[in-house]
Amino acid sequence: MANKEFTTGGLGRRQFLKLAGYGTFGVLAGGIWPFIDPTTASQLTAADQKPRSLPDLDLSLIARPAQVPIFPGEPTQVWQYQAIVHRGSQDRVVQLPRSYLGPIIKAHRGEKVRIRFRNDTVEKSIVHWHGLHVPAIMDGHPRHVVSQGESYFYEFEVKNRAGTYWYHPHPHGRTGPQVYRGLAGLFIVSDDEERSARLPSDEYDVPLVIQDRTFDRGNQLIYTAGHRMEQMTGFLGDWIMVNGMPDFVLPVSTNAYRLRILNGSNSRIYRLAWQDDRPLTIIGTDGGLLEKPLQRRYAFLSPGERLEIWADFNDDPIGFETALVSLPFDGGTAGRGMMMGRGMMQSQRLPNGVGFTIFKVKVTKRENRDWVLPPKLSEIGPSQQDAADNFSSPKDFFLTMNHMQWSINGRTFEMEDVADNEIVRLGSREIWQFHNTGGGMMHMMNMPHPIHLHGKQFRVIERRGVTHQGYVDEGLKDTVLIMPGERIKILVDFDDYPGMFLYHCHNLEHEDMGMMRNYYVKA
Ligand code: C2O
Ligand code: CU
Ligand code: CU
Repeated sequence: MANKEFTTGGLGRRQFLKLAGYGTFGVLAGGIWPFIDPTTASQLTAADQKPRSLPDLDLSLIARPAQVPIFPGEPTQVWQYQAIVHRGSQDRVVQLPRSYLGPIIKAHRGEKVRIRFRNDTVEKSIVHWHGLHVPAIMDGHPRHVVSQGESYFYEFEVKNRAGTYWYHPHPHGRTGPQVYRGLAGLFIVSDDEERSARLPSDEYDVPLVIQDRTFDRGNQLIYTAGHRMEQMTGFLGDWIMVNGMPDFVLPVSTNAYRLRILNGSNSRIYRLAWQDDRPLTIIGTDGGLLEKPLQRRYAFLSPGERLEIWADFNDDPIGFETALVSLPFDGGTAGRGMMMGRGMMQSQRLPNGVGFTIFKVKVTKRENRDWVLPPKLSEIGPSQQDAADNFSSPKDFFLTMNHMQWSINGRTFEMEDVADNEIVRLGSREIWQFHNTGGGMMHMMNMPHPIHLHGKQFRVIERRGVTHQGYVDEGLKDTVLIMPGERIKILVDFDDYPGMFLYHCHNLEHEDMGMMRNYYVKA
């Protein structure tokens, strides 16, 4: 049934064949398949019909209004990604029970994936694959938004290392509200290197998406970042949700677990720690497994970032309880200034930086699978910064407030434009330095900014002016938290995929107000 649609449906087989050279920039003349001439199928030549380069995974992903039971009483109206698998096994797409989150999409490195996105919401939208290394036209740039009833056709090879990536909307100015309504999901990549590390799998491999939300008395979502002053801070909800559920409890057995944690919040930063003071054993970051496990008392997780944690309950008795908590920290001054200034809102019940429980863990049964934490998890190699093309003159990016507007080097988002220092040569390796210098004269405006690059995993090679502890700068990253007064250097290889990509603050309200820019990789 599904395969029938694949071969004869309105998808335009010829368009797909044109795409068979994955990664070739610009071959997708009209990336929007409803505009494909429906007679295309009859024009196929015999050669075109040979079944070559079929995708390993082919699915439809639809964004549409839905309702989910979150609290007793009225269900909550949300927007949700829903998937239909046309090719590949059904378990490549996993729906979290009772969750507004989109399905977890699973792919193996090297596989070819086709995703037919259809927008059934009333707003323009487009899907971005956060952390995935894909051609520019597949990256979900806001200029590729499609309207209600329209579709966008994605086709790419999964080139990333095994790791926890994710997808979410990226229309300019509306990313915050659309993610908030529920549009987000995990994209989990596996590979052979990961397999040989023999990490906990199946029920011992647990995805955990942390978000914050505010509800009215009728169980409906309230988004309180509509005004400029609230956008300055970013949205902060008063319920901490895990996988779309409030008061989340994770039942475990006496075993080790791999916890894959995504901060899918609009602007809240978490300072993760175990309530019972056991150290956090960190095994992975944004771009997959670290070379070896790290132990930390606590770790920051800012919006967009992922952390993978090894959690071992072998020595805990049945009935034992602990929790993953967020420890207090100084979350910047914009929030405080704002609250005094406007005396408002639900969100101040839980400002950025207060402490709270994220979810509880309960040991419920004895059972021994004997997972062993490998001393070596993966091979990443040293970051060769001296081989950077601009080793002695890193590019500078200043994160500042400009006319009541967060900006990068004094500029806000322009759909088609790049500044001179935002053009890089294909094949080059560059050092970019981000300075969180804050609000300048407006000292009350000092905020953390999680900076994210599309299309690339990078290395964090230096952090200066450090004002906090608890960063995990190791491994490969696509999003990095920069606290007020800090500056960081990252090393990026622009080794393939020419074209226009984004970099921006992943505080979604900052992003929506224009704290986002293009960079252009010139062939
Ligand atoms: Cu997850 Cu452009 O972002
Ligand atoms: Cu991204
Ligand atoms: Cu920001």
